[in-house]
Amino acid sequence: MPKKYLTILITGASSGIGKSLVKKCIGNGNKVIGIARRRNELEKLKIELSSDRFEYYNADVADQNAIKKIRDDLEIENNIPDVIVCAAAMFEKDTHPYDAELIKKTIEVNFFGTMNIVENFLDIFVKNGHGHFITLSSITSWRANIKGISYPASKAAIAIAFRGLNLHYQKNNVHFSTIYLGPVETDMWEGRKSFMLTTPEKVAERIMVLINHPKSVSYIPFLSTTIARLLTLIPDELYAKLSSYLVK
Ligand SMILES: NC(=O)c1ccc[n+]([C@@H]2O[C@H](COP(=O)([O-])OP(=O)(O)OC[C@H]3O[C@@H](n4cnc5c(N)ncnc54)[C@H](OP(=O)(O)O)[C@@H]3O)[C@@H](O)[C@H]2O)c1
Repeated sequence: MPKKYLTILITGASSGIGKSLVKKCIGNGNKVIGIARRRNELEKLKIELSSDRFEYYNADVADQNAIKKIRDDLEIENNIPDVIVCAAAMFEKDTHPYDAELIKKTIEVNFFGTMNIVENFLDIFVKNGHGHFITLSSITSWRANIKGISYPASKAAIAIAFRGLNLHYQKNNVHFSTIYLGPVETDMWEGRKSFMLTTPEKVAERIMVLINHPKSVSYIPFLSTTIARLLTLIPDELYAKLSSYLVK
């Protein structure tokens, strides 16, 4: 019989979508392990939730030793998650000329940081015969972007890696889900108010549905992702012009 309540590990738990998802998961009776770098934000969340079903680690997802230590601790405590939502990511606008350091840093956090989580938990999921990884990619990964190359490139890489991993591991009952997200009103979103914008709370609700019904690829929310999918038919230059109306 499937477990009624799950243990869910959420990276990027200190703000935005990750934080909303922590609240939603705790509200639904689940146990949550949050990871992010800002201890003060995690502690504030712990106080706000006032629940012993929420625990946190302050760590950088790209730090291999730190993530391995978290996995070892959870294994010793017999507290291995059923689901891992990889929401941690950074976004900084690329400066021009070409900024090699920013590209490296962004790929290091958004791609290798997420893969670091996968690397540390995949073998236990396979051994246990169940587990679910979810990554939050972006519609920006589909198009050349006038504002930058690092972030969209990192989100394209993680999405295609998860989709490939899903093909390999679904036979082990280990699922990899990729969510292509449209604009969400969080600290990361720097654009204008728009009918296309959704809230982190609404995204958290949709992620809960996905947690209960794993799917390889999802598009959230429907409106902005559908418009973006249709716009993949137009040339980059025209898309850059149109999307500039959304960005400040
Ligand atoms: N907002 C959007 O429009 C949008 C659109 C498409 C996709 N997404 C994706 O949705 C996810 C959540 O983003 P958000 O919008 O909620 O942005 P956010 O509010 O800026 O949240 C980002 C989270 O990632 C954590 N983080 C960043 N670097 C980290 C690192 N090296 N190690 C551990 N944690 C790290 C941050 O916490 P600390 O600073 O405390 O470490 C924060 O909790 C991201 O993957 C983002 O790419 C967002």
